[in-house]
Amino acid sequence: MSAEAVRGPAFGAVLRNRRGLAALTQEQLAERSGLSARTIRRLESGALERPRGATVRLLAEALGLDDKGQMLLAAASREGRHRSEPLRRLVVPRQLPADVAAFVGRADELSILDTEPATAIAIDGMAGVGKTALAVHAAHRLAPGFPDGQLFVDLHGHTHGTAPATPGDVLGRLLRALGVRNDRIPPHTDARAALYRTVLAERRVLLVLDDAADAAQVEPLLPGGPGCRALITSRRRLVALDRTLTLDVLPVEDAVALLTHTAERLAGTPSRTLAELVGRCGLLPLAVRLAAARLRSHPTWDASHLLERLDDPGERLAELEAGPRSVTAALDLSVRGLDDDQRRAYLLLGLHGGGDFTVAAAASILGTSPPRAGRLLDRLLDVHLMQEPAPGRYRFHDLVREHAAHTAVATGYPRSCTWPRTRPCTAPRA
Ligand SMILES: Nc1ncnc2c1ncn2[C@@H]1O[C@H](COP(=O)(O)OP(=O)(O)OP(=O)(O)O)[C@@H](O)[C@H]1O
Ligand SMILES: [Mg+2]
Repeated sequence: MSAEAVRGPAFGAVLRNRRGLAALTQEQLAERSGLSARTIRRLESGALERPRGATVRLLAEALGLDDKGQMLLAAASREGRHRSEPLRRLVVPRQLPADVAAFVGRADELSILDTEPATAIAIDGMAGVGKTALAVHAAHRLAPGFPDGQLFVDLHGHTHGTAPATPGDVLGRLLRALGVRNDRIPPHTDARAALYRTVLAERRVLLVLDDAADAAQVEPLLPGGPGCRALITSRRRLVALDRTLTLDVLPVEDAVALLTHTAERLAGTPSRTLAELVGRCGLLPLAVRLAAARLRSHPTWDASHLLERLDDPGERLAELEAGPRSVTAALDLSVRGLDDDQRRAYLLLGLHGGGDFTVAAAASILGTSPPRAGRLLDRLLDVHLMQEPAPGRYRFHDLVREHAAHTAVATGYPRSCTWPRTRPCTAPRA
């Protein structure tokens, strides 16, 4: 074992951490303990390494340490303990959900996540494309490199019946998970964020922030120190973050692997039929999983029967449901985040039919100017309800277009708005 590993936790590191947990500045601690602010600074920086017993007692009292805390502080003031692990003895959260069963593909993305040096990396993509699955899977692989713990927070960017979590609430939860006592958690978001950064400054913690609504929600939750990493998932492109990774649907062979790993009675099914099946699911992992669930819950169905049922674009979305989970429900939540103009554009463009289109075509469908249509298309791109397969060309994912068209009809948007059309559409606002 190296000399570094057997030496004691630096007293300064323990003091700094404890002061952070107590939400005190150096000056406040100085005032409470009767020591000078200069002494506190020198202790924390390591310039003063071995404080006297009386000094340690004054600090412990001023920090309101319990017996265990006092022992740790006293131990750190003596030589001979583990310098490398001062904080692991505090709370080590292990909050990752179970790894995804039958995880398939995503080799390139995993290697980026394994090696990416950025402190924060955002994984974005359409509903059900596998952002959470990838982040959780990657986090399990990365976890051993983060001995001070792994935190997982659902930010509820898209949860039925639940508003997105506020940064203040999330910070409170994270601080508690990191061992900060309730009565030490400041009421204001800014102060919470400052304390959070202080607490994390000395630790190596991996953070998964799942389903972010937008960058503003995520910003205060990002750790500042170099020892921590954050994986963020969002249906929205979080361009404010240094590093983003956009997930596309699966390649056919991976989608087939996902289907055969999770469905029953597919042994012996011709590979062409399997490829067609996942094609009907738009290669979207959520849809493939739901198709597999359909087969599991209908023992008399085989692959060709399911294929037939998925054949009718008008009925396909109704098939891709299992209990409360469905492609429709997932997409409804994306549409919930649109403003009126964006929602109207989404619905009317969905009625336009398949294939891709230009900004000019969209402008004509929407009865608006090309620059305005371009801005609306960009907003839909930002939240992955639209794709841009080539510069200036736009299209929907098949299931998204079916969802838009369905919703348009269900909410009374006139069929007469389908392409081509000549006069501005007077569809009602959803
Ligand atoms: N690579 C994969 N291997 C195995 N299963 C996967 C994979 N990707 C996604 N899935 C499964 O597909 C379903 C949808 O994936 P997931 O929930 O990760 O999507 P998401 O992009 O996070 O969706 P949302 O935008 O709704 O949060 C889940 O059941 C998940 O387990
Ligand atoms: Mg998710």
